[in-house]
Amino acid sequence: MRKITFAFLIAYFFGTTICFADPFYWGVASAAFQVEGSPADSDWKIWTHTPGKIEDGTNADRATDFWNRYDEDFQLAGKTDGESPSLGANAFRISLAWERIEPEKGKFSEDALNHYLEMVKSMRQHGLEPFLTLHHFAFPLWVAKGGGPLADSFPNDFAEYAEKVVQFFAQHGSPVHFWMTFNEPNVLAYEGYIYGEWPPGEKGPTQEALKVQFNLAQAHLLAAHKMKIADPTSKVGIALHWRVFQPKRKNFLDARVATVLDFLFNRYFLNTIVKGSPCTSLIQMFCAKTKISTAGALDFIGVNYYSRSLASFTVKAPYYVVEEGTGPHKNDLGWEIYPEGLGIALKDLSAYKKSIVITENGIADHADQWRSSFLLDHIKVLKEAQRSGIDVMGYFYWSLTDNFEWARGLKANFGLVEIRYDTFKRIPRPSFYTYQKIIKDSQAKSVSLERSFGN
Ligand code: FCB
Repeated sequence: MRKITFAFLIAYFFGTTICFADPFYWGVASAAFQVEGSPADSDWKIWTHTPGKIEDGTNADRATDFWNRYDEDFQLAGKTDGESPSLGANAFRISLAWERIEPEKGKFSEDALNHYLEMVKSMRQHGLEPFLTLHHFAFPLWVAKGGGPLADSFPNDFAEYAEKVVQFFAQHGSPVHFWMTFNEPNVLAYEGYIYGEWPPGEKGPTQEALKVQFNLAQAHLLAAHKMKIADPTSKVGIALHWRVFQPKRKNFLDARVATVLDFLFNRYFLNTIVKGSPCTSLIQMFCAKTKISTAGALDFIGVNYYSRSLASFTVKAPYYVVEEGTGPHKNDLGWEIYPEGLGIALKDLSAYKKSIVITENGIADHADQWRSSFLLDHIKVLKEAQRSGIDVMGYFYWSLTDNFEWARGLKANFGLVEIRYDTFKRIPRPSFYTYQKIIKDSQAKSVSLERSFGN
């Protein structure tokens, strides 16, 4: 209360934007493999060079050349500085390429770590709070060849890498406070181990994907404990894809299918890192338990929200069908635009009693036809959630620029800024200015959120 009164006094005297100790983070998100270019050896590098795996036959060898042009992008995203267009964001989410940092087990590259340190310094110069993801889908070859996230050694290997990275930044003045261990462990498990669309390309049973999620959860827990020792000021989170599953028809079986899919896809990993087991009273048979303590291992939940799915029961194995929502508006990839789903996701996640960050939300829209209204509608839902008392501390649009969209290649354009791939020229789309205005208006009336971490 004292802090709020003081802030109002300052604002009253200086007539400027109110600045609070805990700002709301307005940002943009990206991932190493999708933007950096010149990738180090990884399972994804091999996958993108295997004929038939990427829809448009492209690869990420050049991507947006972010590895060399990061300063230009941070300038574009950061605080307003006169002539050149800038978004006015105060945060930027990037990921680190594990394969660059630890190309061989136990051998860490100082060059790669220093390069990321330079990126972080550049972010700070442009007024951007760094949010760093330690793993965003690509694995170093030694990890992939050793069995990837199914290997017994995986949790330890990942925790050693995480510890090393956090130690390195701690030795350089702890310029990073917000860390995410994994990006979308649930998507990785489904795409790689059930649908076979991503490496390692397995079309296995659901159990396989659950094993992957469980092992990733154990890796998160081990890593989080080591990260907290390496830098006690660090806040450790995850970025989880949250898909809203709704029954296709109003009947009991479709409703049950939607609940089960919500559990298997959305909650399996999260329950494990919060409660030590994915298990709920609903489905006892998947009741694995971890021996690793969950205490203090999750400070915030990052949610990547894009769309909803309609679920229905069928008599044929695997006894369910999942379809895209049937709303009138779809993005370029056919995903339904469904802002209400963000509200449902935030409400569901608030039950876990952690601070929430929207770590991704975006639309593939080459023509930039829907992006402005997409932003306005989703941010309206976010504000309603805040008004209802849900602690949301940030919103990251995916993505500042177009980039390499995994199995879809370069043809899906999520950027507020268009990339001309022949020249790497960055050209802001009209929606860039919509987001710029949203940020500006909202900072002018920003309200402090009191939050406590690590409960
Ligand atoms: C998310 C991924 C991100 C990007 C967006 C469009 O699921 O985390 O890398 O591909 O989708």
